[in-house]
Amino acid sequence: MNTEAVKEASAFIEGKLDKTPAIGLILGSGLGVLADEITNPVTIPYKDVPHFPESTVSGHKGQLVIGELEGKQVIAMQGRFHYYEGYTMKEVTFPVRVMKSLGISDLFVTNAAGGINESYEPGQLMIIKDHINQMGDNPLIGPNDDSMGVRFPDMSEAYDRTLIETAQNKADDLGLKVEQGVYVGNTGPVYETAAEIRMLRTLGGDAVGMSTVPEVIAANHAGLRVLGISCISNMAAGILDQPLTHDEVIETTARVREDFLSFVKAVVKAV
Ligand code: 6GU
Repeated sequence: MNTEAVKEASAFIEGKLDKTPAIGLILGSGLGVLADEITNPVTIPYKDVPHFPESTVSGHKGQLVIGELEGKQVIAMQGRFHYYEGYTMKEVTFPVRVMKSLGISDLFVTNAAGGINESYEPGQLMIIKDHINQMGDNPLIGPNDDSMGVRFPDMSEAYDRTLIETAQNKADDLGLKVEQGVYVGNTGPVYETAAEIRMLRTLGGDAVGMSTVPEVIAANHAGLRVLGISCISNMAAGILDQPLTHDEVIETTARVREDFLSFVKAVVKAV
C-alpha cells in the first residue's frame, strides 16, 4: 500500500501551512479558475510534492492552491490526474488520500462532461446525484488499507444527500438552472460513439466524462462527504450532428465561468 507515501506527501504540505484545510476542491478542465479566488494562497506545484504524479493535459495547471475561500479553509487541485494519461487508479486517487490525511472532511469534485440527457444544454451545470463506473477498474483493488477505510465500502450514498440539497438551494437562490443527474465515468481518451451514448442513456446516465469516479470511490472509502458538479460542456455523440473537440470543452467552460464560480463559492460558504 502507499500509506507511507501519503504520509510523506501530507507532511510536506502540512509544513507549508498554518491552518488545516476543511474542504478539498478538485477542479476539472477549464474550471481551475476557481483557485484564483482563494485568498492568501500557498501554491505548491505537484512536481514539488513527494510521490505526486505530474499533470500532462492542456487546460490543467498542475498545482495545489491552499488558503481561504468564502471564510473556509480550502485546498484546491488545479488540474487532476486522469486514468487515460496512463496513471494507475492508485495514482489518480493519491491526492484524495493526501487531502484526507491533511484533515479535510468534504470533497468537492468538478468536471466538464458531455450531456447524454437530451433535455440538457451546453453551458449548464449538473449536480452529480450518483455515478456509474464504466472504467473497468477500481482504485480500491488490491490489499485494503484498514487505517483508511473498510474492505467493502458502501456506495449507496456516494454523493452526500445534505450537500446535494445545499447545492440545489444555492443554485435556486442564484437563479441558476442546475439539474441533478447521473455521471458516467468512461476511461477516454476517445469520446463515445453515438451507439455508446444511446446505450449509456438506456443505462440511466445523464452526463459522461473521463474522471471523477475514481476520486469519488477513494473519497467514500476514506469517509469524506462528497459533492460532485459537472459543467455540461457539449452534448455527447449522436445528439447534435457535429464532431466533439476539446476546444469546445474549454470554450464552454470559459463561457459559464462566472456561473460556476458563484455557484461553487456559494456552496463553500454554506457548508
Ligand atoms: Cl461527450 N465524453 C466524455 N467521455 N468526456 C467528455 C465529453 C464526452 N465531453 C466532455 N468530456
